[in-house]
Amino acid sequence: MKDSVNILGIETSCDETAAAIVRNGSQVLSSVVSSQIALHQKYGGVVPEIASRAHIEKIYPIVEEALAQSGIDKKEIDAVAIANQPGLTVALIVGLTAAKTLAMALRKPLIAINHIHAHLQSAMMDVQDLQLPAVALVVSGGHSSLYQCENILDLHLLGSTIDDAAGEAFDKVASILNLSYPGGPSIEKAAKDGNPNAIHFPRTMLGKDSLDFSFSGLKTAVLYHCCGQDMKGESRVAQMSPKEIADIAASFQAAVIDVLVRKTQMAADKFKAKTILLGGGVAANTLLRMELEEMASSTNRTLLVAPKKYCTDNAVMVASLAYQKFKANMFADMSLEAKAGCDD
Ligand code: KG4
Ligand code: ZN
Repeated sequence: MKDSVNILGIETSCDETAAAIVRNGSQVLSSVVSSQIALHQKYGGVVPEIASRAHIEKIYPIVEEALAQSGIDKKEIDAVAIANQPGLTVALIVGLTAAKTLAMALRKPLIAINHIHAHLQSAMMDVQDLQLPAVALVVSGGHSSLYQCENILDLHLLGSTIDDAAGEAFDKVASILNLSYPGGPSIEKAAKDGNPNAIHFPRTMLGKDSLDFSFSGLKTAVLYHCCGQDMKGESRVAQMSPKEIADIAASFQAAVIDVLVRKTQMAADKFKAKTILLGGGVAANTLLRMELEEMASSTNRTLLVAPKKYCTDNAVMVASLAYQKFKANMFADMSLEAKAGCDD
């Protein structure tokens, strides 16, 4: 194999149009992310048709920019990688079509990437010897999943959300509290001035040994807290003091993190994990990082966590994981399809 492998990664699974060029899996030559937050903000969530149209407008300029920033010529690209699952089909398909077109035009192989697995790759981009066994937590707007990890190409799903994902719960609770979208960063900011013990919101653990997650009951508890149990009353949020909002945000955040840390510890104990991996948009949350770090170090484990800039959607994670597939000769062909769900 060549000494130097340059992979162009493309990401359009939700509301970020991103392209990156990564050399040998960890040397980031360029990373460009165009966020559509401003377009979706007034709807309080991502509108698929708006996302798709924005990807169409942005994808080629973003790829051009990634090429220009990388300082390499497009002839030096060795493969084109695309996150083709999971995500919004109408959004995925834009990046997939662009990736196929570029692969054909450049006469380079195409590599299919699972977006969730790529989030985990962000946590181990610079890791040479992963201490096994390892368990991995991915928490994003669409997923809350626990994996047993043999290596990044060999992940076994242990549990996932049965209703709302962790990030989705942050987004919905932010909307209940009239905080801006995306909800994660605004809840985190509001929670800084709040008391996490002010309100005891439920921690849904499901069965005793379950490694699945459920956050919709927690979201409903916040809604009842703000609107009354019978939901007949008007929301009190507009009349609440900033301190009251901060207490709700902090108590909600504590409940989500409590469940995430407890379930991750259960999985780590079950599989005698030496390493815990953390990735996905919610992994940008400082309290979650701190509490998982505390749990890991008190149980003699190493926590590997994605750098904050690569927690939310980006294409570096796509190009980086693609290098592992490139080395393993795992290429896709032009029949590759976009999939809303996840194969594993
Ligand atoms: O991974 P990501 O960019 O997109 C998906 O794959 O879904 O994750 C986006 C999610 C959003 O729900 C957002 O509210 C959440 O990650 N998020 C956070 C934080 N930053 C982003 N949640 C909690 N705390 C944060 N600091
Ligand atoms: Zn994501």
